[in-house]
Amino acid sequence: MKSKASILRSSPGEYESAVVELDTPHQHEVLVRLVASGLCHSDDHVAKGDLIPPLLPFCGGHEGAGVVEEVGSAVVGLAPGDHVVFSFIPSCGRCRYCARGQQNLCNNGLHAFTGERLEEPGSFRMTLDGAPVAQLASASTFSEYTLVDQRSLVKVPEEYDLTKICLLGCAVGTGWGAAVNSAAVRPGDTVIVMGVGGIGINAVQGAANAGALHVIAVDPVEFKREKALELGATKAFGNMAEAADFARSVTDGQGADSSIVTVGVTTGEHIAEAFAAIGKGGTTVVTGIGPMTAVGIPVSAVDLTLNQKRLQGSLYGACAPSADVHQQLALYRSGKLKLDELITTTYKIDEISKAYEDLHAGKNIRGVVLFD
Ligand SMILES: NC(=O)c1ccc[n+]([C@@H]2O[C@H](COP(=O)([O-])OP(=O)(O)OC[C@H]3O[C@@H](n4cnc5c(N)ncnc54)[C@H](O)[C@@H]3O)[C@@H](O)[C@H]2O)c1
Ligand SMILES: [Zn+2]
Ligand SMILES: [Zn+2]
Repeated sequence: MKSKASILRSSPGEYESAVVELDTPHQHEVLVRLVASGLCHSDDHVAKGDLIPPLLPFCGGHEGAGVVEEVGSAVVGLAPGDHVVFSFIPSCGRCRYCARGQQNLCNNGLHAFTGERLEEPGSFRMTLDGAPVAQLASASTFSEYTLVDQRSLVKVPEEYDLTKICLLGCAVGTGWGAAVNSAAVRPGDTVIVMGVGGIGINAVQGAANAGALHVIAVDPVEFKREKALELGATKAFGNMAEAADFARSVTDGQGADSSIVTVGVTTGEHIAEAFAAIGKGGTTVVTGIGPMTAVGIPVSAVDLTLNQKRLQGSLYGACAPSADVHQQLALYRSGKLKLDELITTTYKIDEISKAYEDLHAGKNIRGVVLFD
């Protein structure tokens, strides 16, 4: 079938409208009609050339929610009409990583950028003018319809508004999990969140809900700092130097228990600033992504060792989407997790290029594409 989508023909490049062709569902695949897709910075990394796609054209989008249209012959537990949220790491529940509770590291996440079917190398779900299309996270939610492996979907109750809970597809799990799982924030902690976009605002919410006494948000944009203070931050600063000074002032000079890096284009220098702001036994969580060719983080090895600090990468907030999406829905229903307040602007599918201009201008906590 044909579907209106937003694609990149080059990287660096700009998202533009195109009509792509979707294959019919294979055994374990599901055709989804998108209702909403969040505009994560990761999709823009491909447009800017920070992340290099394995092939072009490329169809972005991974923070989606929609309705099942059609299922393959071997799909279990999903039927037409079901509501689903995307998990941007397809997770099987059975591999070594899933089995030990690290669903975000599922072996099926490998090659999730290629657009190739997981078990059928060389076979693609999406094409443009006969050419295979690479897909972000095997998802491509910047399309009115998309065909995905069932392992990329979590079924959700119909009572929830898909235009809001699409954020569970990436931003919430990634940000909340960075605080709760990767930084393991405890009651009374002092936590710095560096960068208040869609990911950082959920790290703020996660840290506050985990009982942090001081949740210090850092962002150069005033509107972001105001939003952070509304949603759980206890202090907000425009730069890390002030945030680190404040963290030391409330910890007898020691420094924060954890710092979480959620800067849009993350560099080694950002990570080093965050690392310098934590105290003995502290953890710096790196969630943000920068140019994939960049190497080096200018931190002192002596500081790392003698202060027993931890530098922790975090993918999808170290979460287990099959379980955590349902827990996040319960938190949302209870009012402890805010979603509606995170969506600043909505766009149409052919406005994605403009949406990313707005992201870079600091206008949005999260922009969301709504499909008719
Ligand atoms: N690890 C993962 O699993 C994962 C998942 C999703 C997104 N990401 C990455 O996380 C990052 C954040 O994504 P997002 O969608 O929230 O991006 P975003 O652009 O919406 O937000 C980033 C924020 O960082 C702020 N910022 C810029 N420079 C800063 C600085 N020096 N100090 C403090 N703040 C600064 C910006 O003003 C902006 O508010 C991106 O790099 C994205 O690719 C990682
Ligand atoms: Zn994302
Ligand atoms: Zn697995």
